[in-house]
Amino acid sequence: MGTENKRLLRALSGEAVWPPPVWLMRQAGRYLPEYRKVRAQAGDFVALCTNPALATEVTLQPIRRYGFDAAILFSDILMLPWALGHGLEFKEGEGPCLPPLRDAAGVAALDPGRLPKAIEPILDIVRGIRAGLEAEGYGDRTLIGFAGSPFTVACYMIEGGGSKEFAATRGMAYSEPELLDSLIEVLTDATVTYLAAQIDAGAEAVMLFDSWAGVLSPSLFRDLVIAPTAAIVAELRRRYPAVPVIGFPRLAGVMIGSYASVTGIQGVAMDTAADPTIAASLVPPGIAIQGNLDPLAVVAGGEVMASEARAILDAMRGRPFIFNLGHGIVPPTPPENVAALMEIVRAA
Ligand code: CP3
Repeated sequence: MGTENKRLLRALSGEAVWPPPVWLMRQAGRYLPEYRKVRAQAGDFVALCTNPALATEVTLQPIRRYGFDAAILFSDILMLPWALGHGLEFKEGEGPCLPPLRDAAGVAALDPGRLPKAIEPILDIVRGIRAGLEAEGYGDRTLIGFAGSPFTVACYMIEGGGSKEFAATRGMAYSEPELLDSLIEVLTDATVTYLAAQIDAGAEAVMLFDSWAGVLSPSLFRDLVIAPTAAIVAELRRRYPAVPVIGFPRLAGVMIGSYASVTGIQGVAMDTAADPTIAASLVPPGIAIQGNLDPLAVVAGGEVMASEARAILDAMRGRPFIFNLGHGIVPPTPPENVAALMEIVRAA
């Protein structure tokens, strides 16, 4: 099925599709009882992300329940360092845990040679989702593949997990810039290989999650966010001119404008803090904007959720737009609020 039938791909090609296509970050997750059931069967989170049958199943669950315009590969941005041979563990209630990478030996230990074999189960999941969408009557939905951006993945590798400030990473950017550059370079190449493999397996669009782009000064933002993103997009577009790339420079503030103009992406995701009208004035008109309802408004539901959603829709009408949240859906979200949100967007 070509672009003409796929609402998400039409928006990403610059068309003001209305009502806009819609999907939600973390749409497959713990707020869904059917997800929790599969999650309990899988063992740990990495086991779920490498189990083609179960990961395919959880990817399709929110499509069946809500009919979103896109399915996103069920995986995690930290599966790339995992595939490069860096350790990864998800501890219950603690989030991701990795060995902290602080020196040249840590970068040298990363092994791009093991990537093709390590990601094979993930590519099986991509193929499984494409087949499942077709088989279940969702052939007009788009499958989004993804990776973390080199900077955000580097943040988790350097800190050894999540962090409020990412102080070790920012410190390294100032005091050992060659070390950080060498890590970003390895991750940039690996990200191209990884996303190209997802596209070969059936991903029809890809998204780069840069969750921590907002912790950087403008000059570091240009060097560590914009430059690697531009390199990844240039190489992917050279190889796959029909596959759009969405970038999510979370909390980038006014830098969303240069990010959108300079990187060559086809879509840019706004975080919750972005004002849609101001973002639209900074982003070139042919680039789709995606976002940005507060995930907490979906927990609240009712009239507050409706008015927040309508304000975004009103601001974006007439330009290429994809309705989404400003960050991932959170576990306390009542599933019926998501159904109500879908009705609001479909009635726009
Ligand atoms: O959007 C989707 O539905 C696709 C799946 C997806 C996950 N993680 C599944 C996941 C995607 C696109 C991600 C991206 C991701 N992972 C990001 C970028 C987006 C963002 O949220 O800022 C980041 C920073 C991560 C790293 C990560 N993974 C953290 C910090 C955590 C722990 C926090 C938490 O919610 O538990 C994860 C775990 C994770 N990734 C879960 C899911 C569904 C929860 C694990 C579980 O179910 O036990």
